[in-house]
Amino acid sequence: MQVSPVHYDLTFEPNLDDFTFSGKEIIDVKISKPTNTILLDSAELKIKSCHVISNNQKFSAKTRLDEKNESLTILIPKKISGAARIFIDYTGILNDRLVGFYRSQYKDKSGNTKYLATTQFEAADARRAFPCWDEPAAKATFGITLVTEKNYTAVSNMNIISKKTLGKKTAYAFAKTPVMSTYLLYLGVGEFEYLSSKQGKVQYRIITTKGNSKKGKFALDLCKKLVTSYENYFGIKYPLPKLDLIAVPDFASGAMENWGAITFRETILLYDPKTSSTQTKQYIAEVVSHEVAHQWFGNLVTMEWWNDLWLNESFATFMATKFVDKFYPSWKLWDQFLEDTMNVAMGLDSLHSSHPIDVKVNKPSEIREIFDAISYDKGGCVLRMLEGFVTEKNFRAGLRVYLKKFSYKNAKGDDLWNEIGTAARMPVRTMINSWIKQVGFPMVDVKRQNSKLVLAQKRFVLEQKGREKGLWHIPVSVTQDRTTRNKLVTKQCDVIPVGPSDVMINSGRHGFYRVKYSPDLLDYLKGLVLQKSISHVDRWALQNDLFALCVSGDDTAKNYLDFSKSYENEDDYITQSNVAGNLYALYNRTVEERFNYEIKEITHDFLKTVFAKIGWDAKKGEPYTNALLRGFVIGALGKLDDEEITVEAQKRFAAYLKNPLSLNPDLQDAVFSVVAWSGDSKTYQKMLDLYKKVKTQEEKLRFLGALCNFKDEKLLLRTLNFSQTKDVRSQNMHVPIIRVAGNRYGKKIFWPWLKKNWKPLHKKVGVGSPLLNRIVASISTVADSSMEKEIKQFFKKNPTPGTERTLDQTLERIRIHTNLLQRLRLEFA
Ligand code: BES
Ligand code: ZN
Repeated sequence: MQVSPVHYDLTFEPNLDDFTFSGKEIIDVKISKPTNTILLDSAELKIKSCHVISNNQKFSAKTRLDEKNESLTILIPKKISGAARIFIDYTGILNDRLVGFYRSQYKDKSGNTKYLATTQFEAADARRAFPCWDEPAAKATFGITLVTEKNYTAVSNMNIISKKTLGKKTAYAFAKTPVMSTYLLYLGVGEFEYLSSKQGKVQYRIITTKGNSKKGKFALDLCKKLVTSYENYFGIKYPLPKLDLIAVPDFASGAMENWGAITFRETILLYDPKTSSTQTKQYIAEVVSHEVAHQWFGNLVTMEWWNDLWLNESFATFMATKFVDKFYPSWKLWDQFLEDTMNVAMGLDSLHSSHPIDVKVNKPSEIREIFDAISYDKGGCVLRMLEGFVTEKNFRAGLRVYLKKFSYKNAKGDDLWNEIGTAARMPVRTMINSWIKQVGFPMVDVKRQNSKLVLAQKRFVLEQKGREKGLWHIPVSVTQDRTTRNKLVTKQCDVIPVGPSDVMINSGRHGFYRVKYSPDLLDYLKGLVLQKSISHVDRWALQNDLFALCVSGDDTAKNYLDFSKSYENEDDYITQSNVAGNLYALYNRTVEERFNYEIKEITHDFLKTVFAKIGWDAKKGEPYTNALLRGFVIGALGKLDDEEITVEAQKRFAAYLKNPLSLNPDLQDAVFSVVAWSGDSKTYQKMLDLYKKVKTQEEKLRFLGALCNFKDEKLLLRTLNFSQTKDVRSQNMHVPIIRVAGNRYGKKIFWPWLKKNWKPLHKKVGVGSPLLNRIVASISTVADSSMEKEIKQFFKKNPTPGTERTLDQTLERIRIHTNLLQRLRLEFA
């Protein structure tokens, strides 16, 4: 860069009456080659005046805005070089699209509408708040001042160093930040309430709207513990004097790691023991852990460019689980990682329309598109696999060197692989490249030949199109004579000697691949499942792989159903929920088929067996995960119209209406959805009233979900329309849409409704919103192959930038489901 920023001095004066702000900016820059033009990023800003001082000389400057390229050119009458200072006065908008500097709305205790101003700058929206070099590598220091009305307080990345009265207003000045990237800057102004606590030299605060800060206690306590734990792990102290966790009523994603001022959706930060579920508590812990991990990995050391975004996010995903697990081992988060992270990643990565982890990105719209299950989840799995391969000790040693070496700087993926490789004295780069530079993951075919296992790898895909290419460096764990060792399989075919009973490949499921066993081996393993003589993870994995093979056509549904019978004594959480989930998926895919009752019976029997063990109410000393399993099983049994469950759910709902505290928050989702499933328009009205009445966003979401669970098309249509009203925050608009798509009674109305509402819906969230991708993806649950052409044509006529890849993935999923159904018809003929 010819001109680079050294320090930004920024004063913002937001106006929450007319939703504008004015800005005064002074940038200290270094100019390496004489120039009379300076090019910055800038969007939706109006420049009032601009001048430049260089060598004690003041030049008034002309400015040129280019809205399309989001840039600002400053033209100076004379060429200048060396140190210079740019002065810009400008105005901007506090928008309602949840990007840049934006406004968020809520109601106070007495029902008055209130506003606050907040920011979301990642990936490339700092330019909507001030002209800047809006790239991760253009690091600088920042001195922020926020001028507010008297009733507001202000928050930024650093601590307040002065508070001055300016007529009717207050000016808050913040300490200078360390050298950092623009996407991590934060500004907040509102009538906030705080919950504070000091630990060591760091001041921690939960920041909420009035009346809510107490619900931040769980997150605050955990956050302090996590920071200490990360400090020890990384060998670097948290470098800022304070860390705020801020709950924002309107928030596009889940949370954002702004340095020292992490922002969250309310549902992901606020925990109320009276009304919050175990699932929420767990989610809060994981997200706090994720964003705290970024304070080092991402904030202190930042990717050079967005192509390494995946590394930032996958690292935080992996670390989040690792660190929460240290404090809550009973949550069994590594087990849940298999379901929530690995399974999700494999689902996407077994499509031809998936993409390699490491992709080129240039424009902001391309950057946004790669915040997906490949970047987060596959990346997280690959890091876990790498840690297993090089050992925990070497992984950490390499990481520590990397973080020290690149502190307050930028780095590339290769810099990290080099340090880990050096620490481990292993060829890390070639191994890791086989997972991040090519799309997909392998299926390993296993057969026995005397005392050896013969392995063959090829790409695993759900839609068969001919020969699959690809070669991975697969760490395989093999047990022989009771010792497990790792072997790196790098060829298409390999042979490994094993003991007579040691045939389980990928034991512990650290490897990101599926295994297909020959029938004799599978039969043998089935016996081990029944006796529970292999670990619960291996029991989970065997049927998980087999189910995927059934969907891809590499195996049959009948084989899966048969194999599932060996889980009748199962007592492990993820295994029971995955078997149940897979059976339910088969049932749900075939509801219109003649043979559906056969699958329904098996599914129902299995769910009933699980339910018999756990019952409606929590028992003292039961495993923690029962709280999660119970809701799932009750919800699924209700959907199968189980009489006993339906009646009891209605009874508990009636009691809830009299006394909301009578219903355990862990049961609420399930009870409301079962009641809706068996309910009529009167029930609907009740749910709608409750949605409006309950106080927290978490509770509201439960009723919003229930409104999608009716059987009556007309009611479902009402829910779809409701999603577009002001009663549903734009951040939650996709929830009813996706849920109605998932309701089989919503199938017929969904697509016509979506087509009709696409334009306004699209406008509401703005181009490039991740919500649009989720909505596009949900089409795969309602459509079959016969609609493929029409869907394609619709999006051709209504181009939606940033959803192109998702659309391809959706169409592929539709074909996969149709193919599966056709095979099932043959099997059950
Ligand atoms: N850096 C992201 C937030 C983000 C996402 C910014 C997309 C811009 C575009 C943050 O660290 C994050 O990953 N948030 C997740 C939550 C996480 C725990 C999975 C999110 O918002 O979904
Ligand atoms: Zn993240």
